[in-house]
Amino acid sequence: MQESGLKPILWKEKKLILLDQRVLPGSTSYLTAETLEDCIFAIREMVVRGAPAIAITGAFGIAIYLNALSSKPSPAEFKKKLTELLESRPTAVNLRLMIEEFQSRFTENENSTLSLEDLRKQAEIFALTMLETDLNDNLALSKNSLSLFPKSPSQLNLITHCNTGALATAGHGTALGVIRSLRDAGHFLTVFADETRPYLQGARLTAWELKEEGIPAFLITDSMAGWLMGSRKIDAVIVGADRIASNGDTANKIGTYPLAIVAKHHGVPFYVAATAKSMDFRIPDGSHIPIEMRKPDEVTSFSFLKDENGKPFLNEGVIAPIGMDALNPSFDVTPASLITGIITERGIVSPVTEENLKKIFGQPFV
Ligand code: MRU
Repeated sequence: MQESGLKPILWKEKKLILLDQRVLPGSTSYLTAETLEDCIFAIREMVVRGAPAIAITGAFGIAIYLNALSSKPSPAEFKKKLTELLESRPTAVNLRLMIEEFQSRFTENENSTLSLEDLRKQAEIFALTMLETDLNDNLALSKNSLSLFPKSPSQLNLITHCNTGALATAGHGTALGVIRSLRDAGHFLTVFADETRPYLQGARLTAWELKEEGIPAFLITDSMAGWLMGSRKIDAVIVGADRIASNGDTANKIGTYPLAIVAKHHGVPFYVAATAKSMDFRIPDGSHIPIEMRKPDEVTSFSFLKDENGKPFLNEGVIAPIGMDALNPSFDVTPASLITGIITERGIVSPVTEENLKKIFGQPFV
């Protein structure tokens, strides 16, 4: 299966080079992270975003942290740093699972005796392996999705939300990876990309990836999906995930939940594409997923969009009365009952039940 050439995360000479997603599509510039703090900044400030990409950046952040030390950190010191990393963004479980896996492999039990030199080597291998595994998992889940659309070639009209492409992962993508692979399999696609208010990941990033790939697409505002499903034949909605609870309830970008309700109303299949690294078997259902609340000014203005010098693109980008309060939950939770299937690297989970999820995933990382 063909992968996209887009590489948002590069590891060169023990430095992390990140495509700065805050300034896309206006400019293509890179930020070099030379410290763990740089990596935390990059995650918190959305230089890099998307659940898998956040976790991979965090893993390289650990390697960078260890490389900078002249003696091994005390367990308490190391834990403090990992906690700071963990708190950079709370909803996607990938970052937490990565940190816990790192701890269980390298800092707990008999591995806690590793020398600094060995720990450094292991941390770099761990991060590089994550990068490679994520890409392979995305290619595998995309391949599995082909069984859902067996009649090839056919015309498929698809809706997607947020950005789940190469930019959000090690490459290829989850939901957008599925879309790429359907095109590669010979389907004729029309993609409707939700703009994804307020941060506009759909308008700025998904639209950019679709254009680069030459996949026919229309950008729509989030509120147009109902009209679209009512007036045209839509074959499926495909979205990503930031955290999937044991029962299949799924947190994803704000606006996913209403999209799933509209899809259910119109009988349009609603698929989530995600890897095992977004599964959280420790929580029974979606009510336990922490929802990140972001700054109100992302809702009241477009001035969060900055150029490479940190200047707002639009000084006049304020779209509400000065001083207006706004709510800005960054994610919502779609109940499992609204999800037709979860497309994973290990197969399709459908119907979405705890039993079926456990059959496919077992209990990774626990
Ligand atoms: O706030 P973001 O841009 O990090 O949110 C991203 C999403 O919600 C994606 O849909 C999700 O992380 C899956 S990316 C493969």
